[in-house]
Amino acid sequence: MDAVSQTVMKLNQENKVEHMPADQGQHLGAAPVLNPLPPLQDRFGRTFDYVRVAVTEKCNLRCTYCMPEEGVDFQGRDKILKSDEIMRIVGVLARMGIKKVRYTGGEPLVRKDIVDLVAGAAGTPGIKSVHVTTNGLLFDRYAQGLRDAGLTGVNISLDTLDAEKFVRITRREGVDKVQNSIRRALDMGFPRVKVNIVLMRGFNEDELGAFTEMTRDQRLTVRFIEFMPFDAHQIWESGVHFASAESLVNQIEKMYPGIQSAPGTRTEHHIFQAPGYQGKIAVIPAFTRSLCGNCSRIRVTADGNIRNCLYSDKEYSLREMIRDNCSDDDIASTFRKAFMDKEKDGFDSKKASSAHQVSVKDIGRVSMTQIGG
Ligand code: GTP
Ligand code: 5AD
Ligand code: SF4
Repeated sequence: MDAVSQTVMKLNQENKVEHMPADQGQHLGAAPVLNPLPPLQDRFGRTFDYVRVAVTEKCNLRCTYCMPEEGVDFQGRDKILKSDEIMRIVGVLARMGIKKVRYTGGEPLVRKDIVDLVAGAAGTPGIKSVHVTTNGLLFDRYAQGLRDAGLTGVNISLDTLDAEKFVRITRREGVDKVQNSIRRALDMGFPRVKVNIVLMRGFNEDELGAFTEMTRDQRLTVRFIEFMPFDAHQIWESGVHFASAESLVNQIEKMYPGIQSAPGTRTEHHIFQAPGYQGKIAVIPAFTRSLCGNCSRIRVTADGNIRNCLYSDKEYSLREMIRDNCSDDDIASTFRKAFMDKEKDGFDSKKASSAHQVSVKDIGRVSMTQIGG
């Protein structure tokens, strides 16, 4: 048995993966799935039950590690999936055993129909939880609507607690707004509230303790994400450096002697709870990729392409086939094809991407905003 299959088996046996309260029979997913299809699996025995749908490429911030000031070459409106097209995809995936939907972007809350998208996914038989990953700037405007629509979880990106550093990293004002959004999400009782921090040595590593202390009295998870040197980010020239998951875990263990492992999601490869604290602290090895054996994620880009790995540049188009009135089975087989091609891990995906440059449709994605994080 190869290393990936062994990890999959071990994790399944340990049942390490956290079950959301929503999985245990809140109002989502109450209706049975009609006409179920066989589950979506790959060659390595991994089963996929979580879809990340990017709903826009646009964003109201310009984080230096993500996009240049002038933005990237955003696609025309007609290229972006419409809400009924997204619902169609979610409906087929639910029949294939997908239980979790996350809307990403760009910034998903710049899309005016975001509440309808959440309600649509939450009302799809088989879907047990619906989440957004947001920068928090517009959260206040939509919070009640999202709660009423059945949103289970909110992941809010906030790389610094310092107003001046916030402007330096995002090129916009707004640290107070984002902090208010975190408080509001907690006050409103969203079942999962998380703070995503891209950790960069020389920029925000000195704030590690301030972020972990947020978990003392607040029922949230702070998550330190390894910085992924994704594209032509000018940030490499500004003296900011990569901090590995391992080094972050070491620092956290030193700060909190006796800290215990806790249950978390599959991206939360390292997750802890300090003794007596309400919240959790996680480290996401986005770049060192030790989480791949446990991958359960499907990605759909805003313009309607499937990606079988964050590190793969091979795409499988759904948009035109949906617009040409294809059947549900056509959509399902495109997902199956994409996931039969999935590599063992993000390293092999990356290798295969550069090796197949000629056959791979090169559409010049240069930013996380075009892939959906
Ligand atoms: P949960 O469901 O709450 O665990 O959220 P998530 O981590 O799946 O989603 P989120 O949008 O908050 O992702 C945060 C970051 O984790 C992303 O921007 C990536 O940096 C990293 N990440 C998420 N999924 C993957 C993945 O499949 N592979 C890798 N390498 N990194 C990922
Ligand atoms: N490296 C790591 N994380 C990134 N994100 C965006 N760009 C990068 C990158 N280069 C994160 C954001 C947000 C999530 C959607 O993606 O901080 O939390
Ligand atoms: Fe899955 Fe690819 Fe992410 Fe690894 S890098 S966890 S294989 S999507």
